[in-house]
Amino acid sequence: MREREGSIGAPDRLRCEYLHNPLGIEEPSPRLSWQIRDPQRSAVQSAYQVQVASSPELLASHVPDQWDSGKVATNQTIQVEYKGQKLQSHRRYHWRVRTWDGQGLVSPWSRLHWWEMGIMESDLWKGHWIGPPLPENNRQPIPCPYLRREIIVKGQIRRARVYITARGLYELYINGRRVGEDYFTPGWTEYHHRIPYQTYDVTEYFREGPNAIGAILGDGWYGGHVGGFMRLRLYGPAPRLLAQLELETEDGTTQIIRTDTQWRISDGPILVSDFMRGEQYDARLEMPGWNEVGFDDRRWRQPVAEPLDHVKLVAQAMPTVRSMMILAARSRTQVRPGVWVFDMGQNMVGVARMQVQGPTGATIRMRYGEAVNSDGTLYTDNYRTAQCVDEYTVKGDDDRDYGPRHHSEAPLEIYQPRFTFRGFRYVELTGYPGDPPLTAISGIVLYSANDATGEFECSDPMLNQLHSNIVWSQRGNFLEIPTDCPQRDERLGWMGDAQVFIPTACFNMDVAAFFAKWMRDVELSQRADGAFSDVVPNALAFRDGECLNFDHHAWADAAIVVPWTLYQYYGDRRILERYYPAMGRWIEHCRLNSDGLIRPVGGYGDWLSVDAQTPTDLLNTAWFARSTWLMRRIAAIIGRNDDATTYERLFLEICRAFNHRFVTPASRIIGDSQTSYALALCFDLLPESARQAATAHLVENIRQRNDHLSTGFVGTPWLLNALSDNGRTDVAYRLLHQQSYPSWLFAVTHGATTIWERWDGWTPQAGFLNPYMNSLNHYAFGAVGQWMYQNIGGINPDPEYPAFGRFIIHPRPLESGLSFARTKYHSIVGTIASAWHIHNDHWTLTVRVPPNTQAEVVIPTDSLDQVTERGLPLNISPGLTDCREDGKLVRFLAGAGQYEFIIEIERYHTSTKQ
Ligand code: BGC
Repeated sequence: MREREGSIGAPDRLRCEYLHNPLGIEEPSPRLSWQIRDPQRSAVQSAYQVQVASSPELLASHVPDQWDSGKVATNQTIQVEYKGQKLQSHRRYHWRVRTWDGQGLVSPWSRLHWWEMGIMESDLWKGHWIGPPLPENNRQPIPCPYLRREIIVKGQIRRARVYITARGLYELYINGRRVGEDYFTPGWTEYHHRIPYQTYDVTEYFREGPNAIGAILGDGWYGGHVGGFMRLRLYGPAPRLLAQLELETEDGTTQIIRTDTQWRISDGPILVSDFMRGEQYDARLEMPGWNEVGFDDRRWRQPVAEPLDHVKLVAQAMPTVRSMMILAARSRTQVRPGVWVFDMGQNMVGVARMQVQGPTGATIRMRYGEAVNSDGTLYTDNYRTAQCVDEYTVKGDDDRDYGPRHHSEAPLEIYQPRFTFRGFRYVELTGYPGDPPLTAISGIVLYSANDATGEFECSDPMLNQLHSNIVWSQRGNFLEIPTDCPQRDERLGWMGDAQVFIPTACFNMDVAAFFAKWMRDVELSQRADGAFSDVVPNALAFRDGECLNFDHHAWADAAIVVPWTLYQYYGDRRILERYYPAMGRWIEHCRLNSDGLIRPVGGYGDWLSVDAQTPTDLLNTAWFARSTWLMRRIAAIIGRNDDATTYERLFLEICRAFNHRFVTPASRIIGDSQTSYALALCFDLLPESARQAATAHLVENIRQRNDHLSTGFVGTPWLLNALSDNGRTDVAYRLLHQQSYPSWLFAVTHGATTIWERWDGWTPQAGFLNPYMNSLNHYAFGAVGQWMYQNIGGINPDPEYPAFGRFIIHPRPLESGLSFARTKYHSIVGTIASAWHIHNDHWTLTVRVPPNTQAEVVIPTDSLDQVTERGLPLNISPGLTDCREDGKLVRFLAGAGQYEFIIEIERYHTSTKQ
């Protein structure tokens, strides 16, 4: 039967395991998603059909040989599991989807998309790990090895794939051409257990006859300095490459090239390349043509080749690190003769690209800093022992003698370090021949290529700058793993930092695949007794045989918060199921190691709070309760109803113990800190009767501090919520607008372009704080970004409905002191927008609800009569239902569509002032 076609467009934004056409995945039943295109108000999807085939031609001729879901009556558009034929290694699967609308009319088929499987069975890997001999000196980084091999391709290539990884980092070339645009591949995981590999389509790189393959290896996380204790060779003594090239020719034969002793190895121009030290590059040692056919490699040696071992090779499952932006330098200053400092105008993470023309052998040094001293010289103390120096020795043109004034005649050389990065805003150049032009330096911004999903703008430029600082700190610290900071000798996956920031991170970028990959390593870092480590991958695990960093609340709890947040923002139920046992072990560990359900003192406490003492046993017990409450929710979602009841009971018992131990009859919480009140209120630890008094104590504390905060990492993300959820949005805004220390805007008033680790990273009185711990790019305090999206913009997930299938629009303009705000969130189900402006005696709110979703709109006015939608009363406006008054609020449901509400505010003012 022919389907009746409607006016709806073909579904788009097709994704497989959150990725666009992923090449080389291993998930045996990947999950698919799409967005529907239907401009009608209240548009819904009533059914879908997915078809998967082994070739595009088969799909075009309606032969879905791998899977045809048939017409499935559901509004589900995300997390749709593939349920077809068993997926085979190496094969590409083509898919398309069509949808039916609420009237039963069908859409056109989507454009074709695909995913391709990697190497799913470990015995298909057959190569050797190849690389240089073990270094003699275990304390020195070694030059980066260059590897090459020539092969003869017999016949026309039909398809070529390379599966490649390294112990260390690699860059691959075929016939002189770089393969891919990725940085720092293969990425960082718990290398003792698993190492990611990448798959590249290299069909276009090969030709019939002789071909050359080349690779450069770097130390990276595997063998270079890793932060924390600045350990060198944490995972192994020397870098290694492992690659498998599979070439299919037109006649159907397959040629497989592997890494083995047929390759050749040599040192090259990169003398050192280390994340913490920087890179030393001598362009005079370049070997033109080393990765092309016909290069004379007789002086190269045979590499060491080691067989594969038990460590699992796993497909890259998230966006790689890429060059995401290039910043031009804003200014340059000669701070001392021959010493130039370039200002990129933005604290960023990546490397500098330098252009130079100069005499052979001239050596130029680039040093980096996040800040400058008052005399304009570079401030590097807060890098601690991370030297971050790049040195480039000019190749020049030996035949000519360039006097100092004739550099412009020398060939232009462009240098960009390969296997290193750091956080910086300023670049210091010394040894540059002549006066460097402003274009001598540009900033290559590197981070994991997670799509941007959030937009925020309002009438206060200070808040816009704060938002920008939050996004830049996320960019700089979402490099393979969520790190604490990108500059000093640390740069580790601190669980606490990730946990406090993840909701904000989800608003700013699509981080589903990024965190899903990290979670696997979180699980691997769990100790047998259930405790989690504080950093993942666990680069700190042992010092002198002693286990240092486990079992710290608000850090370890990331193991529950991260999956929970991914479920909320992306509907990822599989991640809840997958890590449920590990999460349960953590709760059990806490239960067994508590005294009457009070967790012991210890841990990091409310890290970097100011002038406030939140007892650590209080904080730990509050987090024990929070994680237990989340487990109750998670157990119910995945159908473990008995567990849900057990966790519920445990949660209530912890609350009882908490109140008994830490809360006075007058609802004062021991420590009397903003953090204690914020956690108790937001984690729902207090009896209903105590909430009002506890809120009043919190407000009083803030008033006594003249509207300043005192919270550290643990309390900060909850502070404003504790106020706005308990009727004191006015106080929340006063804190947010505060410009003097300690406050979010204090750093902004002093020119910060990223979030600082400490509230007082720099003060006019004391200058830079103790350099021992003073990162100027640490996202934790940027956790307020979530509150800004949710309360200024008004875009909120509804905890009962994952992945924004239904969400809440609840902007709070009237206490905001702002005249407009515009926010957007490109959610997994479509773009949500909420924008408003205040004009004389009314405010206008425009809301966009994506197809197949619903918004509960909450408007701060007490009467339905005060609100119209495009001139119509709410109850007759198409798309709106369940309109009702609820105290000082008006609530209603809005189906898909674009709405414009006008609300009279004269009356609002009168009603709230009473
Ligand atoms: C890191 C933090 C981390 C903390 C643990 C610091 O050195 O930079 O962000 O959470 O240690 O207390």
